[in-house]
Amino acid sequence: MSGRICYIDGDFLPIDQASISILDRGLLLADSVYEVLRVENGTIFRSGQHYRRMMRGLEALAIATPCAESQFSSLCDELAQRNGIEQGSVYLQVTRGATERTHLVPRNIQPTLLGFASSADLPKWKDQGGSVGVITVSDTRWSHCGIKTTMLLPNSLAKQRANDAGAYEAVFVSEEAFVREGASTNVFVVLDGALHTHPTDGRILPGVTRAIVLDLARREGIATKEEAVRVEHLRKAGEMFLTGTTTDVAPVSTIDGVTFGGHAPGPITERLITRFAALLEAETAPAGR
Ligand code: PDD
Repeated sequence: MSGRICYIDGDFLPIDQASISILDRGLLLADSVYEVLRVENGTIFRSGQHYRRMMRGLEALAIATPCAESQFSSLCDELAQRNGIEQGSVYLQVTRGATERTHLVPRNIQPTLLGFASSADLPKWKDQGGSVGVITVSDTRWSHCGIKTTMLLPNSLAKQRANDAGAYEAVFVSEEAFVREGASTNVFVVLDGALHTHPTDGRILPGVTRAIVLDLARREGIATKEEAVRVEHLRKAGEMFLTGTTTDVAPVSTIDGVTFGGHAPGPITERLITRFAALLEAETAPAGR
């Protein structure tokens, strides 16, 4: 829509001239919160309640506060006014800010504050027959872990918790106590002589490295089982390792601060580390080297 004015980090400007950093964590990791406020008769409705909810979200995520309540409300007013909105909504979003992409939660970075206003006859159902229909769906929010979406906020928060505890990775465990995967890795466990990893049933990301390692293991004659392992079985596991594009094959030596199994890497992990490194080198070495 031409002539529409938006706001970004201190400036009001035409919406088609606005830009944010390609490294903004709101874009890369969904590391942000937002509010939508109702505009009626050109006036923002209940701005204070929206501000307080936004603040609760920002505090929970340890994102810096971008503005005081009075600035928040005057920003909403100004967006509505500059866009001539009589009835519609104002959208505001605060992201953690822009920095080099990392799952860890960066400290002391400048949050990004952006907003725009939209004109609409609200609520829309009034024009659509005066009542509404619904359907029922199972609550699968968010259980589509097999899709490599950028909805990485839970992963990022978990990775930071691991880092705070002096660990490399956080391993997600389901409500039914099954080991799923790491925040940015897949998990393998050697149990009763067989290499176990979670099946690709939508509850984990089907890692490229996971598939390569399973293939290498089969070629090595190692028994493999794509079956979920219960968390209580981790401690009796002989070996455990993580896989991922930026991790390769990483042996695990401690779980929740407790050393488990024998010396890491164990024999199966060591074989797979060696095979994976050889494969990586073979497929990437410049010709003639
Ligand atoms: N992440 N599980 C999750 C949740 C991941 O985000 C990743 C990779 C993996 C391992 O998949 P692959 O072997 O294809 O890298 C498993 C990338 C490295 C990232 O977000 O940086």
